[in-house]
Amino acid sequence: MLHKLIPLIILPFILVSCTTPSVERPTLPTEDFLIIAHRGASAYAPAHTIPAYELADHMGADYIELDLHMTQDKKLVALHDGDIVVNGVKHSVASLTHEDLQAFSPGAIFNAQNPTRSSPAYEDLRVPTLEEVLQHFEDEVNYYIEIKSPARTPGMEEALVQQLREHDLIDRSDDHPKVIIQSFDADSLHKVFELEPSIPLIALYGKKTASISDREISRLKTYASGVGVDAQLVTAKLIERLHEADLHIHPFVVNEADALRDMMEMGANGVFTDNPDIGVEVRESFEDEN
Ligand code: G3P
Ligand code: CA
Repeated sequence: MLHKLIPLIILPFILVSCTTPSVERPTLPTEDFLIIAHRGASAYAPAHTIPAYELADHMGADYIELDLHMTQDKKLVALHDGDIVVNGVKHSVASLTHEDLQAFSPGAIFNAQNPTRSSPAYEDLRVPTLEEVLQHFEDEVNYYIEIKSPARTPGMEEALVQQLREHDLIDRSDDHPKVIIQSFDADSLHKVFELEPSIPLIALYGKKTASISDREISRLKTYASGVGVDAQLVTAKLIERLHEADLHIHPFVVNEADALRDMMEMGANGVFTDNPDIGVEVRESFEDEN
């Protein structure tokens, strides 16, 4: 009796697997080693400001990197830290309005930390909104956008995808994708994949990561185009395992010429760097030699 029932039990599963189209993750171009300007050309100008992004573009970076947070009044803003000091008091960005953020000066912090590269003009710079950055550059640059702390501020993914659509930055036929989205939060990347599967996604792994297991790589293959990995974790073997799964690898943060060259020799697909000028120079000499 049971053997007669088995086909009836498994038939629905067969039908579902045959009729549900699996959504393919986008692939990244394999030819080029990408120079990703980490927070803009942040060795030379205040991180996450229009001058830092402009300088990165001028230096020949392939992507400008933006870290995104969402303010209390639902503005996506570009800055690294989720907690900042305003008028001597520490606040989470999520608890501040965009207007509150006007009291915060990325340029003053840069000037204090980089006396030889400081400029009085930087003091007037303020945290830009994503909208201001997109309006400034439109499709003149490529964007590598990190969704920071999405569990703190639900709705970031929807707001981000909507703004990218409004600026016509999605699903274009350029040589390189106009936008890549990255996050340490896999749930957030899955949300973006559901909203807009044509955007390449990069899963991030910090230096506390013990390893990236085969099981993890199998999961990544279902939605991600690659990984961003703390440079300390990068080995030739890891790169080989990721490439076998058609996953790209972009180590962070690599600033010295020797270390940049090491990443190219090992076969990484790009790097996050505060010094895009050095990255471009090392890439040129590496390509000339190979
Ligand atoms: O997004 C890659 C790298 O930037 C992650 O580190 O802390 O600089 O955002 P963080
Ligand atoms: Ca980042």
